[in-house]
Amino acid sequence: MKTAVTELLGIEYPIIQGGMAWVGEYHLAAAVSEAGGLGIIGAASAPADIVRQQVREARKLTSRPIGVNVMLLNPNADGVAEVIVEEGVEVVTTGAGSPAKYMDMWKAAGVKVIPVVASVAMAKMMERSGADAVVAEGMESGGHIGSATTMTLVPQVADAVNIPVIAAGGIADGRGFAAAFMLGAQAVQMGTRFVAASESIAHDNYKQKVIKARDIDSEITGMSTGHPIRQIRNKMTREYLKLEKEGASFEELEYLTLGSLRKAVMEGDVVNGTLMAGQCAGMVSRVQSCREIIEEIIHDGSVLLKI
Ligand SMILES: Cc1cc2nc3c(=O)[nH]c(=O)nc-3n(C[C@H](O)[C@H](O)[C@H](O)COP(=O)(O)O)c2cc1C
Repeated sequence: MKTAVTELLGIEYPIIQGGMAWVGEYHLAAAVSEAGGLGIIGAASAPADIVRQQVREARKLTSRPIGVNVMLLNPNADGVAEVIVEEGVEVVTTGAGSPAKYMDMWKAAGVKVIPVVASVAMAKMMERSGADAVVAEGMESGGHIGSATTMTLVPQVADAVNIPVIAAGGIADGRGFAAAFMLGAQAVQMGTRFVAASESIAHDNYKQKVIKARDIDSEITGMSTGHPIRQIRNKMTREYLKLEKEGASFEELEYLTLGSLRKAVMEGDVVNGTLMAGQCAGMVSRVQSCREIIEEIIHDGSVLLKI
């Protein structure tokens, strides 16, 4: 299936596994790339050497292109940006700010740069700074979110920029895939559905929470701090929201969630951990391999798109 994004990235199918802190490590990224999509290693706040090691491990499992997601607020971002060049990473997606300061270095090395944006203004700014494409991410998605929905954001971004648009947020099956193309996207990025993939290292307790979640089981914490995060409701979100309502300080709220995503992913603590997942968790019904997920979506999506 050829689109502007498959051509740009040299991949078989226009499906990207979004960068995911803790969950998106090399096993998952390599499995997605090997299945014809683009797998992304989530650098989150990892030190540069860990990212280098992750890329090298992924290379042992696939010879296809892989990506790295850089959180620009990460104090190690400078080092990670250099590792991307040194290790010949094909694609970088960025979050939490503007990648302008790394753009020349990455472009000179032939890295494709794809910022994740939550508004038209940000998409235009990224296009001006030389981005190759943008991920327009709606607030249905798991993890850090903006305020516009995928349904409204994707067409507005597609109208505003001349670079390819990748839709993210709430896409978990062939219908969402087809809809994304109808809205003007040239590929999709998914997170939540890949959390439950067999190759994902997320603890089985976490995967089962995603599988059992219903449409209304996600909660947004952090509205008061300006860093909203979508995750599945549990004891932690209830405590967090109660504290937020009582006007707790940023530090108090931070303390509650310190290491909480790691706790959920690595230890399976679904009570006190942070279970980042989007509203589409209600559409995830079982653990499947990345290949099965991708082939199913491409099959069902192609039927709907009549291609
Ligand atoms: C567990 C989890 C962790 C995430 N971590 C990151 C991250 O570190 N950086 C980032 O840009 N996006 C992150 N995201 C967002 C995903 O990359 C992706 O854009 C999003 O999940 C798409 O929406 P969906 O969950 O509805 O599929 C995360 C999402 C999840 C579910």
